[in-house]
Amino acid sequence: MTQDELKVLVARAALDHVVPGELVGVGTGSTVNHFIDALATMKDRIRGAVSSSNQSTARLQARGIRVFDASKVEALPVYIDGADEIDGQGCMIKGGGAALTREKIVADLSGCFVCIVDASKRVDVLGAFPLPVEVIAMAAPQLARRFAALGGTATLRPGVLTDNGHPLLDVRGLRITDPRALESEINQWPGVVTVGLFARHRARVCLLGTAQGVETVVF
Ligand code: A5P
Repeated sequence: MTQDELKVLVARAALDHVVPGELVGVGTGSTVNHFIDALATMKDRIRGAVSSSNQSTARLQARGIRVFDASKVEALPVYIDGADEIDGQGCMIKGGGAALTREKIVADLSGCFVCIVDASKRVDVLGAFPLPVEVIAMAAPQLARRFAALGGTATLRPGVLTDNGHPLLDVRGLRITDPRALESEINQWPGVVTVGLFARHRARVCLLGTAQGVETVVF
């Protein structure tokens, strides 16, 4: 099976985690695009979706799924999203698609993050994928120096601004053995909008697409 076929497989499997009659939190990315397509087949059985990006909002609306503003919602039974890497505890690197801030906000509305990934995203230690960090532009150079002190190399993602209008740093060379501690530390640095480490908002369930089918991992 190709990587894209594995993404379709886990995207369809995620429908089993959608609660009929309720809202569903929807992430961003190529795997989530397949999930949105699958969700359209049960759109009459859900209230609608809360979206994590302009990209996902456009796709949801194009398929006739009502999109609710996160600011009007108090809680979501489930949030479904992909990841760039996921470790054995359900901690993730996210933000390869630049949507990390809204993803974390919508994930925070839900106690249940269901991560949908093909098996290539499963790692023992996070960090081979460059860690995305949404930042306030004027702080980018001093934040890059802080990452250098941790052994990382931070570069601005060329030509990209997030849906919130901010630039992104991509940090290479980190070996993240304690994601929760690193997330907390980076969150304290002035100028950081959101770090793409999801340890405090880690996955509770991972649907992993493998050549043998969908493996369900509960953390
Ligand atoms: C978007 O900003 C990211 O967090 C995505 O969830 C992540 O990059 C996974 O994307 P794919 O499903 O396209 O691999």
